[in-house]
Amino acid sequence: MTAQWLTWDEAADGMLALRRRVFVDEMSWPEKRIHRDRDPDGLHLCAMSGGEIVAAISAYVYEPGAPELAALELSRVEGPSVGIGMRVELPEYRGQLLTAEIGTSMLRQISESLLPSRFFVYVHADTLLHLVDRYARRNFSYHAQVGSGADTVVVMKVEGEEELERFYLQHRDLTRKYSAAGGIPVPSLVRFLAENKRADLLAVTGLGAENHYLRQLRLETEAPRLASQGQVMLAEQRQRLSMTPFPPAPASLLDIGSGPGDYLAAVAGEAPFAGYQVRGVEPAAELLTRARAAYPELDFREGSAYATDEPESSHDVITANFVFVHLRSPDLALLEMRRILRPGGLLYVVDVNDATFTGPEVVRRMMQTYNQAYAGDRLILNDLPKRAQEFGFELVRQFSTTVRDGGGARPVFGEDEIRLGKADAWSLLSFVRTQPGCAEIFEEAQQHYFATECQISLNIETHVYRLRTDTA
Ligand SMILES: C[S@@+](CC[C@H](N)C(=O)[O-])C[C@H]1O[C@@H](n2cnc3c(N)ncnc32)[C@H](O)[C@@H]1O
Repeated sequence: MTAQWLTWDEAADGMLALRRRVFVDEMSWPEKRIHRDRDPDGLHLCAMSGGEIVAAISAYVYEPGAPELAALELSRVEGPSVGIGMRVELPEYRGQLLTAEIGTSMLRQISESLLPSRFFVYVHADTLLHLVDRYARRNFSYHAQVGSGADTVVVMKVEGEEELERFYLQHRDLTRKYSAAGGIPVPSLVRFLAENKRADLLAVTGLGAENHYLRQLRLETEAPRLASQGQVMLAEQRQRLSMTPFPPAPASLLDIGSGPGDYLAAVAGEAPFAGYQVRGVEPAAELLTRARAAYPELDFREGSAYATDEPESSHDVITANFVFVHLRSPDLALLEMRRILRPGGLLYVVDVNDATFTGPEVVRRMMQTYNQAYAGDRLILNDLPKRAQEFGFELVRQFSTTVRDGGGARPVFGEDEIRLGKADAWSLLSFVRTQPGCAEIFEEAQQHYFATECQISLNIETHVYRLRTDTA
Protein backbone atom coordinates (compact mmCIF):
# COMPACT_ATOMS: atom_id res chain seq x y z
CA MET A 1 0.00 0.00 0.00
CA THR A 2 1.28 3.46 -0.88
CA ALA A 3 -0.13 6.95 -0.48
CA GLN A 4 0.03 9.69 -3.09
CA TRP A 5 -1.09 13.25 -3.51
CA LEU A 6 -2.78 13.43 -6.90
CA THR A 7 -3.96 16.29 -9.08
CA TRP A 8 -7.61 16.12 -10.14
CA ASP A 9 -6.51 15.34 -13.69
CA GLU A 10 -4.70 12.27 -12.41
CA ALA A 11 -7.30 11.28 -9.83
CA ALA A 12 -10.72 12.17 -11.24
CA ASP A 13 -11.61 8.84 -12.86
CA GLY A 14 -10.47 6.67 -9.95
CA MET A 15 -11.87 8.95 -7.27
CA LEU A 16 -15.25 9.40 -8.90
CA ALA A 17 -15.53 5.64 -9.40
CA LEU A 18 -14.73 5.13 -5.71
CA ARG A 19 -17.18 7.82 -4.57
CA ARG A 20 -19.87 6.39 -6.84
CA ARG A 21 -19.40 2.88 -5.54
CA VAL A 22 -19.67 3.89 -1.90
CA PHE A 23 -21.85 6.99 -1.80
CA VAL A 24 -24.22 6.31 -4.71
CA ASP A 25 -24.39 2.51 -4.76
CA GLU A 26 -24.24 1.88 -1.02
CA MET A 27 -25.67 5.04 0.51
CA SER A 28 -28.05 6.03 -2.27
CA TRP A 29 -26.72 9.57 -2.58
CA PRO A 30 -27.80 11.45 -5.68
CA GLU A 31 -24.97 11.54 -8.27
CA LYS A 32 -24.58 15.33 -8.00
CA ARG A 33 -23.42 15.06 -4.38
CA ILE A 34 -20.23 13.21 -5.29
CA HIS A 35 -19.02 16.16 -7.36
CA ARG A 36 -17.53 19.18 -5.66
CA ASP A 37 -17.11 22.40 -7.65
CA ARG A 38 -13.68 22.75 -6.07
CA ASP A 39 -12.47 19.26 -7.00
CA PRO A 40 -10.21 20.50 -9.84
CA ASP A 41 -8.29 22.64 -7.30
CA GLY A 42 -8.66 20.21 -4.38
CA LEU A 43 -5.79 18.49 -2.60
CA HIS A 44 -6.46 14.79 -3.02
CA LEU A 45 -4.62 12.23 -0.94
CA CYS A 46 -5.12 8.65 -2.08
CA ALA A 47 -4.18 5.25 -0.72
CA MET A 48 -3.24 3.05 -3.66
CA SER A 49 -2.93 -0.67 -4.05
CA GLY A 50 -1.89 -2.29 -7.32
CA GLY A 51 -2.25 1.06 -9.12
CA GLU A 52 -5.89 1.42 -7.96
CA ILE A 53 -7.22 4.10 -5.61
CA VAL A 54 -8.66 2.18 -2.66
CA ALA A 55 -9.21 5.07 -0.26
CA ALA A 56 -9.14 8.85 -0.60
CA ILE A 57 -9.73 12.08 1.21
CA SER A 58 -9.85 15.59 -0.21
CA ALA A 59 -9.13 19.05 1.13
CA TYR A 60 -10.38 22.31 -0.36
CA VAL A 61 -8.76 25.66 0.31
CA TYR A 62 -11.04 28.73 0.53
CA GLU A 63 -9.80 32.29 0.61
CA PRO A 64 -11.48 34.72 3.05
CA GLY A 65 -14.82 35.85 1.67
CA ALA A 66 -15.43 32.74 -0.49
CA PRO A 67 -19.22 32.41 -0.96
CA GLU A 68 -19.15 28.70 -0.02
CA LEU A 69 -18.11 29.74 3.50
CA ALA A 70 -21.02 32.13 3.92
CA ALA A 71 -23.37 29.38 2.71
CA LEU A 72 -22.14 27.22 5.61
CA GLU A 73 -22.61 30.18 8.01
CA LEU A 74 -18.84 30.38 8.57
CA SER A 75 -17.87 33.94 9.39
CA ARG A 76 -14.87 35.70 7.87
CA VAL A 77 -11.44 34.79 9.23
CA GLU A 78 -8.17 36.41 8.20
CA GLY A 79 -6.44 33.50 6.49
CA PRO A 80 -7.51 30.52 4.40
CA SER A 81 -10.15 28.06 5.53
CA VAL A 82 -9.60 24.41 4.69
CA GLY A 83 -12.59 22.13 4.22
CA ILE A 84 -12.01 18.39 4.51
CA GLY A 85 -14.36 16.01 2.76
CA MET A 86 -15.15 13.18 0.39
CA ARG A 87 -13.48 10.73 2.72
CA VAL A 88 -14.09 7.32 1.24
CA GLU A 89 -12.66 3.80 1.10
CA LEU A 90 -13.53 0.59 -0.72
CA PRO A 91 -15.75 -1.68 1.40
CA GLU A 92 -13.15 -4.46 1.37
CA TYR A 93 -10.60 -2.13 2.98
CA ARG A 94 -12.86 -0.92 5.80
CA GLY A 95 -11.62 -1.81 9.24
CA GLN A 96 -8.04 -1.00 8.25
CA LEU A 97 -8.63 2.67 9.12
CA LEU A 98 -6.96 3.78 5.89
CA THR A 99 -8.75 7.10 5.64
CA ALA A 100 -8.20 7.76 9.35
CA GLU A 101 -4.50 7.28 8.78
CA ILE A 102 -4.03 9.23 5.55
CA GLY A 103 -6.51 11.87 6.77
CA THR A 104 -4.42 12.38 9.91
CA SER A 105 -1.32 12.90 7.84
CA MET A 106 -3.21 15.28 5.56
CA LEU A 107 -4.31 17.41 8.53
CA ARG A 108 -0.81 17.45 9.97
CA GLN A 109 0.79 18.43 6.69
CA ILE A 110 -1.79 21.12 5.93
CA SER A 111 -1.31 22.55 9.44
CA GLU A 112 2.44 22.58 8.90
CA SER A 113 2.59 24.14 5.49
CA LEU A 114 -0.60 26.12 4.82
CA LEU A 115 -1.16 27.42 8.36
CA PRO A 116 -4.94 27.75 7.83
CA SER A 117 -7.06 29.99 10.04
CA ARG A 118 -9.77 27.36 10.13
CA PHE A 119 -10.49 23.74 9.33
CA PHE A 120 -14.05 22.64 8.77
CA VAL A 121 -16.05 19.61 7.71
CA TYR A 122 -19.70 19.19 6.91
CA VAL A 123 -21.54 15.92 7.17
CA HIS A 124 -24.78 15.01 5.44
CA ALA A 125 -27.35 14.53 8.19
CA ASP A 126 -29.27 11.84 6.27
CA THR A 127 -26.43 9.30 6.08
CA LEU A 128 -23.34 10.37 7.97
CA LEU A 129 -24.51 11.78 11.30
CA HIS A 130 -22.40 9.18 13.13
CA LEU A 131 -19.29 11.02 11.91
CA VAL A 132 -20.08 13.98 14.17
CA ASP A 133 -18.77 12.10 17.22
CA ARG A 134 -15.71 10.97 15.34
CA TYR A 135 -14.84 14.53 14.31
CA ALA A 136 -15.53 15.75 17.85
CA ARG A 137 -12.85 13.33 19.09
CA ARG A 138 -10.47 15.02 16.66
CA ASN A 139 -11.14 18.44 18.26
CA PHE A 140 -13.69 19.67 15.70
CA SER A 141 -16.51 21.52 17.45
CA TYR A 142 -20.12 21.79 16.39
CA HIS A 143 -20.77 24.97 14.41
CA ALA A 144 -24.20 24.88 12.75
CA GLN A 145 -26.86 22.86 11.02
CA VAL A 146 -27.43 24.27 7.56
CA GLY A 147 -29.91 23.53 4.75
CA SER A 148 -33.13 21.61 4.90
CA GLY A 149 -34.63 18.24 4.09
CA ALA A 150 -32.28 15.80 2.37
CA ASP A 151 -29.72 18.59 1.93
CA THR A 152 -29.23 19.25 5.65
CA VAL A 153 -25.58 19.24 6.71
CA VAL A 154 -23.92 19.56 10.11
CA VAL A 155 -20.94 21.91 9.99
CA MET A 156 -18.03 21.40 12.37
CA LYS A 157 -14.92 23.52 12.65
CA VAL A 158 -11.59 24.17 14.35
CA GLU A 159 -10.85 27.86 14.71
CA GLY A 160 -8.76 30.18 16.90
CA GLU A 161 -5.03 30.11 17.56
CA GLU A 162 -5.08 27.86 20.61
CA GLU A 163 -7.54 25.37 19.14
CA LEU A 164 -5.59 25.17 15.89
CA GLU A 165 -2.34 24.60 17.79
CA ARG A 166 -3.92 21.85 19.92
CA PHE A 167 -5.38 20.32 16.76
CA TYR A 168 -1.98 20.38 15.05
CA LEU A 169 -0.18 18.79 17.98
CA GLN A 170 -2.86 16.12 18.32
CA HIS A 171 -2.53 15.16 14.65
CA ARG A 172 1.25 15.26 14.70
CA ASP A 173 1.22 12.93 17.68
CA LEU A 174 -1.21 10.56 15.94
CA THR A 175 0.89 10.43 12.76
CA ARG A 176 3.88 9.43 14.89
CA LYS A 177 1.83 6.60 16.39
CA TYR A 178 0.71 5.40 12.97
CA SER A 179 4.26 5.55 11.71
CA ALA A 180 5.63 3.68 14.77
CA ALA A 181 3.06 0.97 14.06
CA GLY A 182 4.46 0.62 10.52
CA GLY A 183 1.80 2.73 8.77
CA ILE A 184 1.63 4.00 5.21
CA PRO A 185 4.33 6.59 4.44
CA VAL A 186 2.72 9.74 3.08
CA PRO A 187 4.82 11.88 0.72
CA SER A 188 5.40 15.57 1.22
CA LEU A 189 2.55 17.98 0.48
CA VAL A 190 5.07 20.82 0.16
CA ARG A 191 6.87 19.00 -2.60
CA PHE A 192 3.62 18.12 -4.34
CA LEU A 193 2.48 21.76 -4.31
CA ALA A 194 5.86 23.02 -5.51
CA GLU A 195 5.96 20.50 -8.36
CA ASN A 196 2.43 21.32 -9.45
CA LYS A 197 2.84 25.10 -9.52
CA ARG A 198 0.68 25.54 -6.43
CA ALA A 199 3.42 26.95 -4.19
CA ASP A 200 1.25 30.07 -3.75
CA LEU A 201 -0.72 28.04 -1.17
CA LEU A 202 2.33 27.65 1.09
CA ALA A 203 2.26 29.98 4.11
CA VAL A 204 5.82 31.21 3.63
CA THR A 205 5.27 34.56 5.35
CA GLY A 206 3.12 33.26 8.21
CA LEU A 207 5.55 30.45 8.99
CA GLY A 208 8.52 32.80 8.74
CA ALA A 209 6.91 35.05 11.36
CA GLU A 210 6.77 32.17 13.87
CA ASN A 211 9.75 31.75 16.15
CA HIS A 212 9.10 28.79 18.42
CA TYR A 213 12.59 29.02 19.84
CA LEU A 214 12.22 32.59 21.08
CA ARG A 215 8.59 32.26 22.13
CA GLN A 216 9.36 30.86 25.58
CA LEU A 217 12.87 32.18 26.21
CA ARG A 218 14.45 35.29 27.63
CA LEU A 219 17.41 36.56 25.63
CA GLU A 220 19.35 37.70 28.72
CA THR A 221 19.68 34.10 29.85
CA GLU A 222 19.63 32.45 26.45
CA ALA A 223 22.43 34.45 24.76
CA PRO A 224 25.13 33.46 27.31
CA ARG A 225 23.85 29.86 27.29
CA LEU A 226 24.19 29.74 23.50
CA ALA A 227 27.68 31.23 23.66
CA SER A 228 28.92 28.56 26.08
CA GLN A 229 27.12 25.82 24.16
CA GLY A 230 28.91 27.13 21.05
CA GLN A 231 32.33 26.56 22.63
CA VAL A 232 31.52 22.97 23.53
CA MET A 233 30.02 22.41 20.09
CA LEU A 234 33.07 23.73 18.29
CA ALA A 235 35.27 21.28 20.16
CA GLU A 236 32.85 18.48 19.28
CA GLN A 237 32.52 19.56 15.66
CA ARG A 238 36.16 20.11 14.72
CA GLN A 239 36.73 16.48 13.79
CA ARG A 240 33.30 16.18 12.10
CA LEU A 241 34.08 19.22 9.96
CA SER A 242 37.48 17.84 8.97
CA MET A 243 35.86 14.55 7.87
CA THR A 244 33.32 16.27 5.61
CA PRO A 245 34.18 16.80 1.92
CA PHE A 246 33.46 20.54 1.77
CA PRO A 247 34.25 22.11 -1.59
CA PRO A 248 37.51 24.07 -1.72
CA ALA A 249 37.53 27.90 -1.70
CA PRO A 250 36.45 30.06 -3.37
CA ALA A 251 33.04 28.97 -2.16
CA SER A 252 30.17 30.41 -0.20
CA LEU A 253 28.50 29.29 3.02
CA LEU A 254 25.10 30.35 4.30
CA ASP A 255 24.21 29.70 7.92
CA ILE A 256 20.48 29.60 8.53
CA GLY A 257 19.20 30.68 11.96
CA SER A 258 22.57 32.17 12.91
CA GLY A 259 21.19 33.74 16.12
CA PRO A 260 23.68 35.96 18.00
CA GLY A 261 26.41 34.88 15.54
CA ASP A 262 28.94 33.50 18.06
CA TYR A 263 28.87 29.97 16.73
CA LEU A 264 28.98 31.04 13.09
CA ALA A 265 31.94 33.34 13.79
CA ALA A 266 33.79 30.45 15.46
CA VAL A 267 33.01 27.93 12.72
CA ALA A 268 33.90 30.38 9.94
CA GLY A 269 37.45 30.44 11.35
CA GLU A 270 37.87 26.66 10.96
CA ALA A 271 40.24 25.25 8.31
CA PRO A 272 37.63 23.81 5.89
CA PHE A 273 36.14 27.27 5.42
CA ALA A 274 39.34 29.23 4.85
CA GLY A 275 38.74 31.59 1.91
CA TYR A 276 34.95 31.07 2.04
CA GLN A 277 32.41 33.86 1.79
CA VAL A 278 30.26 33.48 4.88
CA ARG A 279 26.80 34.86 5.51
CA GLY A 280 24.24 34.33 8.28
CA VAL A 281 20.46 34.57 7.94
CA GLU A 282 18.35 35.12 11.03
CA PRO A 283 14.68 36.11 11.44
CA ALA A 284 14.82 37.67 14.94
CA ALA A 285 15.66 41.39 14.82
CA GLU A 286 17.20 41.47 18.32
CA LEU A 287 19.54 38.57 17.51
CA LEU A 288 20.52 40.15 14.20
CA THR A 289 21.41 43.39 15.97
CA ARG A 290 23.60 41.51 18.44
CA ALA A 291 25.31 39.51 15.69
CA ARG A 292 26.05 42.58 13.58
CA ALA A 293 27.45 44.50 16.57
CA ALA A 294 29.64 41.62 17.77
CA TYR A 295 30.95 40.47 14.36
CA PRO A 296 31.00 43.46 11.97
CA GLU A 297 33.37 41.55 9.67
CA LEU A 298 30.64 38.96 8.93
CA ASP A 299 27.54 39.46 6.81
CA PHE A 300 24.19 38.92 8.57
CA ARG A 301 20.88 39.32 6.77
CA GLU A 302 17.29 39.13 7.85
CA GLY A 303 15.43 36.06 6.63
CA SER A 304 13.85 32.80 7.69
CA ALA A 305 14.56 29.21 6.78
CA TYR A 306 11.49 29.37 4.54
CA ALA A 307 12.42 32.59 2.75
CA THR A 308 16.12 33.44 2.88
CA ASP A 309 15.90 36.02 0.10
CA GLU A 310 19.08 34.51 -1.39
CA PRO A 311 19.38 33.98 -5.16
CA GLU A 312 18.86 30.54 -6.67
CA SER A 313 21.82 28.13 -6.59
CA SER A 314 23.95 30.77 -4.90
CA HIS A 315 25.66 28.77 -2.12
CA ASP A 316 28.01 25.79 -1.94
CA VAL A 317 27.32 24.98 1.70
CA ILE A 318 24.33 25.59 3.95
CA THR A 319 24.63 25.06 7.69
CA ALA A 320 21.78 24.85 10.20
CA ASN A 321 22.88 24.50 13.81
CA PHE A 322 20.14 23.80 16.33
CA VAL A 323 17.53 25.23 14.00
CA PHE A 324 15.58 22.33 12.47
CA VAL A 325 14.12 21.35 15.86
CA HIS A 326 12.49 24.78 16.07
CA LEU A 327 10.73 24.65 12.72
CA ARG A 328 7.09 23.76 12.22
CA SER A 329 7.66 23.01 8.53
CA PRO A 330 10.97 21.25 7.85
CA ASP A 331 9.71 20.45 4.35
CA LEU A 332 9.28 24.09 3.48
CA ALA A 333 12.80 24.78 4.76
CA LEU A 334 14.15 21.93 2.63
CA LEU A 335 12.38 23.37 -0.41
CA GLU A 336 14.07 26.73 0.16
CA MET A 337 17.45 25.08 0.83
CA ARG A 338 17.17 23.14 -2.41
CA ARG A 339 16.43 26.39 -4.23
CA ILE A 340 19.46 28.29 -2.96
CA LEU A 341 22.04 25.49 -2.83
CA ARG A 342 24.10 24.68 -5.91
CA PRO A 343 23.50 21.16 -7.19
CA GLY A 344 26.22 19.03 -5.61
CA GLY A 345 26.41 21.45 -2.65
CA LEU A 346 26.29 20.33 1.00
CA LEU A 347 23.66 20.84 3.68
CA TYR A 348 25.28 20.46 7.11
CA VAL A 349 22.80 19.98 9.96
CA VAL A 350 23.63 19.75 13.65
CA ASP A 351 20.85 19.18 16.16
CA VAL A 352 19.64 17.23 19.16
CA ASN A 353 17.54 14.13 18.68
CA ASP A 354 15.23 13.49 21.62
CA ALA A 355 14.46 10.01 20.30
CA THR A 356 17.92 9.09 21.68
CA PHE A 357 17.21 10.40 25.18
CA THR A 358 17.91 8.01 28.05
CA GLY A 359 17.17 8.64 31.70
CA PRO A 360 14.88 7.67 34.56
CA GLU A 361 11.17 7.28 33.91
CA VAL A 362 10.12 10.65 35.33
CA VAL A 363 12.63 12.53 33.18
CA ARG A 364 11.59 10.61 30.08
CA ARG A 365 7.98 11.47 30.88
CA MET A 366 9.01 15.12 31.19
CA MET A 367 10.65 15.05 27.75
CA GLN A 368 7.63 13.34 26.26
CA THR A 369 5.26 15.93 27.77
CA TYR A 370 7.44 18.69 26.37
CA ASN A 371 7.65 17.16 22.91
CA GLN A 372 3.90 16.74 22.72
CA ALA A 373 3.39 20.40 23.59
CA TYR A 374 6.10 21.99 21.46
CA ALA A 375 5.24 23.15 17.93
CA GLY A 376 8.89 22.76 16.90
CA ASP A 377 10.02 19.15 16.67
CA ARG A 378 12.90 17.75 18.74
CA LEU A 379 12.40 14.37 17.05
CA ILE A 380 12.86 15.71 13.52
CA LEU A 381 16.33 14.21 12.99
CA ASN A 382 14.75 10.75 12.98
CA ASP A 383 12.69 11.77 9.95
CA LEU A 384 15.07 14.18 8.27
CA PRO A 385 16.94 11.72 5.98
CA LYS A 386 13.64 10.51 4.50
CA ARG A 387 12.21 13.98 4.14
CA ALA A 388 15.43 15.43 2.74
CA GLN A 389 15.57 12.66 0.16
CA GLU A 390 12.21 13.81 -1.21
CA PHE A 391 13.83 17.16 -1.93
CA GLY A 392 16.87 15.67 -3.66
CA PHE A 393 19.24 15.55 -0.66
CA GLU A 394 21.28 12.39 -0.09
CA LEU A 395 22.70 11.68 3.33
CA VAL A 396 26.46 11.35 2.81
CA ARG A 397 27.80 11.52 6.39
CA GLN A 398 26.15 10.99 9.76
CA PHE A 399 27.79 11.42 13.16
CA SER A 400 26.38 11.08 16.62
CA THR A 401 27.76 12.33 19.92
CA THR A 402 26.27 11.22 23.21
CA VAL A 403 26.17 13.99 25.79
CA ARG A 404 25.90 12.49 29.25
CA ASP A 405 26.47 13.40 32.87
CA GLY A 406 29.14 11.80 35.02
CA GLY A 407 31.79 14.41 34.21
CA GLY A 408 33.34 17.15 36.34
CA ALA A 409 33.53 20.94 36.32
CA ARG A 410 34.73 20.99 32.70
CA PRO A 411 33.40 18.97 29.77
CA VAL A 412 35.38 15.82 29.05
CA PHE A 413 35.54 14.83 25.37
CA GLY A 414 35.74 11.14 24.51
CA GLU A 415 35.17 9.34 21.23
CA ASP A 416 31.62 10.28 20.15
CA GLU A 417 30.92 11.32 23.73
CA ILE A 418 30.92 14.40 25.95
CA ARG A 419 30.68 14.08 29.73
CA LEU A 420 29.33 17.00 31.68
CA GLY A 421 28.93 17.67 35.38
CA LYS A 422 25.54 16.73 36.81
CA ALA A 423 24.22 20.31 36.99
CA ASP A 424 25.55 21.20 33.52
CA ALA A 425 23.89 18.16 32.00
CA TRP A 426 20.60 19.12 33.63
CA SER A 427 20.89 22.68 32.35
CA LEU A 428 20.65 21.27 28.81
CA LEU A 429 17.03 20.50 29.64
CA SER A 430 16.25 23.80 31.37
CA PHE A 431 14.16 25.00 28.40
CA VAL A 432 11.42 22.55 29.45
CA ARG A 433 10.50 24.66 32.49
CA THR A 434 9.18 27.57 30.43
CA GLN A 435 6.92 25.55 28.13
CA PRO A 436 3.28 26.06 29.17
CA GLY A 437 1.98 22.93 30.90
CA CYS A 438 5.47 21.59 31.68
CA ALA A 439 6.51 23.47 34.87
CA GLU A 440 5.12 20.88 37.28
CA ILE A 441 6.64 17.83 35.61
CA PHE A 442 9.92 19.75 35.27
CA GLU A 443 10.05 20.35 39.05
CA GLU A 444 9.24 16.71 39.77
CA ALA A 445 11.89 15.45 37.32
CA GLN A 446 14.49 17.90 38.62
CA GLN A 447 13.95 16.83 42.22
CA HIS A 448 14.30 13.19 41.27
CA TYR A 449 17.40 13.84 39.18
CA PHE A 450 19.31 15.64 41.93
CA ALA A 451 18.11 13.40 44.75
CA THR A 452 19.24 10.15 43.12
CA GLU A 453 22.27 8.66 41.41
CA CYS A 454 20.41 8.46 38.10
CA GLN A 455 22.02 9.39 34.78
CA ILE A 456 20.74 11.06 31.66
CA SER A 457 22.03 11.20 28.09
CA LEU A 458 21.04 12.75 24.80
CA ASN A 459 22.63 12.53 21.36
CA ILE A 460 23.64 15.44 19.22
CA GLU A 461 23.62 14.39 15.61
CA THR A 462 25.38 15.76 12.57
CA HIS A 463 23.86 15.01 9.19
CA VAL A 464 25.62 15.95 5.97
CA TYR A 465 23.46 15.92 2.84
CA ARG A 466 24.53 16.43 -0.74
CA LEU A 467 22.06 18.01 -3.15
CA ARG A 468 21.76 15.68 -6.11
CA THR A 469 22.86 17.23 -9.37
CA ASP A 470 19.78 16.01 -11.22
CA THR A 471 17.21 17.88 -9.08
CA ALA A 472 14.97 20.43 -10.77
C1 LIG B 1 19.07 27.45 19.36
S1 LIG B 1 19.23 28.89 18.39
C2 LIG B 1 20.71 28.49 17.49
C3 LIG B 1 21.48 29.69 17.03
C4 LIG B 1 22.79 29.37 16.30
N1 LIG B 1 22.58 28.60 15.10
C5 LIG B 1 23.74 28.63 17.22
O1 LIG B 1 24.00 27.46 16.98
O2 LIG B 1 24.19 29.24 18.17
C6 LIG B 1 17.95 28.75 17.20
C7 LIG B 1 17.94 29.85 16.17
O3 LIG B 1 16.96 29.57 15.16
C8 LIG B 1 16.30 30.77 14.84
N2 LIG B 1 15.02 30.47 14.21
C9 LIG B 1 13.82 30.22 14.75
N3 LIG B 1 12.89 30.04 13.81
C10 LIG B 1 13.52 30.16 12.61
C11 LIG B 1 13.10 30.11 11.25
N4 LIG B 1 11.83 29.87 10.94
N5 LIG B 1 14.02 30.31 10.31
C12 LIG B 1 15.31 30.55 10.61
N6 LIG B 1 15.76 30.61 11.87
C13 LIG B 1 14.88 30.43 12.86
C14 LIG B 1 16.18 31.47 16.17
O4 LIG B 1 15.85 32.84 16.07
C15 LIG B 1 17.56 31.21 16.74
O5 LIG B 1 18.48 32.16 16.29
